[in-house]
Amino acid sequence: MIILGIETSCDETAAAVVRDGNDILSSVIASQISIHAPFGGVVPELASRKHLEYIIPVIENALERAGLSGEELDAIAVTQGPGLVGALLVGLSAAKAMAYALGKPLVAVNHIEGHIQAAFLSGAAPDNPFICLVVSGGHTALYRVEPDGGSRLLGATRDDAAGEAFDKVAKLLGIGYPGGIEIDKLALGANRESIRFPRSRFEKESLEFSFSGLKTAAANYIRKHGPPAPGSAPGGGGAYRLEDFAASFQEAIVDVLVEKSFKAVLQHGLSDIAVVGGVAANSRLRQRLAREAASANFRLYLPAVQFCTDNAVMIASAAYNIWKRSGPPPEMLELDAFSR
Ligand code: KG4
Ligand code: ZN
Repeated sequence: MIILGIETSCDETAAAVVRDGNDILSSVIASQISIHAPFGGVVPELASRKHLEYIIPVIENALERAGLSGEELDAIAVTQGPGLVGALLVGLSAAKAMAYALGKPLVAVNHIEGHIQAAFLSGAAPDNPFICLVVSGGHTALYRVEPDGGSRLLGATRDDAAGEAFDKVAKLLGIGYPGGIEIDKLALGANRESIRFPRSRFEKESLEFSFSGLKTAAANYIRKHGPPAPGSAPGGGGAYRLEDFAASFQEAIVDVLVEKSFKAVLQHGLSDIAVVGGVAANSRLRQRLAREAASANFRLYLPAVQFCTDNAVMIASAAYNIWKRSGPPPEMLELDAFSR
C-alpha cells in the first residue's frame, strides 16, 4: 500500500511517499526556520502563509522523487492536529482536494501518533509493548504503546513542553531559533555542573513533568548575574560562560526526561523504551539514553534525527498502521483541524 503523507502542523511543510509503512520512497521538508528565527519563535500567521506558498511544490516534489503519479497512490494521509490551526488547515485542504480529485481515501493522523510512529522507523520495529517519551516543542508526555501502534497516555507536562523551555531560554540568551539545537551545540564539551538548576519531580510514582520552574530559574539567574559572556572564564568577575549555562540547563532537562521514562518502563514491568519528537534529536539526551538503557538492559528505539523533528514520513507510516488496525477510513472530506 502506497501512502502520501502531508504534515503542516507547525513550521515545516512536509510531504513523503511511503510503501507499507516503512519503505520510504521519498521525503521532502521545506523548513521555515530562517523566516521565524528573527522573532525567536514561530509566528503562526507567517507559518500559514509560507505553508500556502510551499505546499503544492513540496507535494509535487515528493511524488516526483518517488517516481509516482497521484493516480498510483492508495491513500492520502494528513496531520489533523494538534498544532497551529491556520497551518494545519493548509495541509488539510491540500489533502482533501487531492483525495477528492483523485478519488482516493483520506486518512487523518494525530500529530503525536505520528511522532510515536517514528519509533517503528528506528531500525528494528518494536515487537513488545514499550514506553514512548514524546518530547518536542509542543509536547512532553509518556505513553504505553502496543506493537500494533495503539497507545495510552501515562503522564504529560503540567505546563511547558521541554522543547518550549529550550526555545524560551534560548530566546532570553539571544542565541537563535530553534533554541534546542543552539543550546545542544553550545553545551558540547562545556561544564554541566557549573550551575545547579532545579529538577521538578512531584510524588514518587508520578509520571508528570514540569519545566516552567526551570525556565523561571534560568531567567532569574540571567537577571541576577547579567548576560553571559561566551567563552569567558568560569567565575571570572561574576561573569559565567554561555556554554556552561547551556550545558547546565540542558542537563536539568535531560536528567528529568531520562529518569521519568525509565521509571515508567519499570512501573509497567517492560524492557523496551522509545524516545521521539524534536528534542529526541538532542545529542546529550541520546548519549545518556544509549548509555543508561544499556546498563539497565532496556531495548532502546531512537529514530534517526530526521525522523525526530517534524516530517511527513511518520504521518504516512502512522496512516498505514491506522488502516491495518481499523480498516479503510470513512468518508473524510468534512474533516476539520484541531489545535489541542
Ligand atoms: O517535533 P518538533 O519538530 O515540532 C513539534 O512538534 O513541536 O520539535 C521541535 C522542538 C523545538 O522546541 C526545538 O528546539 C527542539 O524540538 N529541538 C531540540 C533539538 N532539535 C530540535 N531540542 C534539543 N536539542 C536538539 N538538538
Ligand atoms: Zn512535532
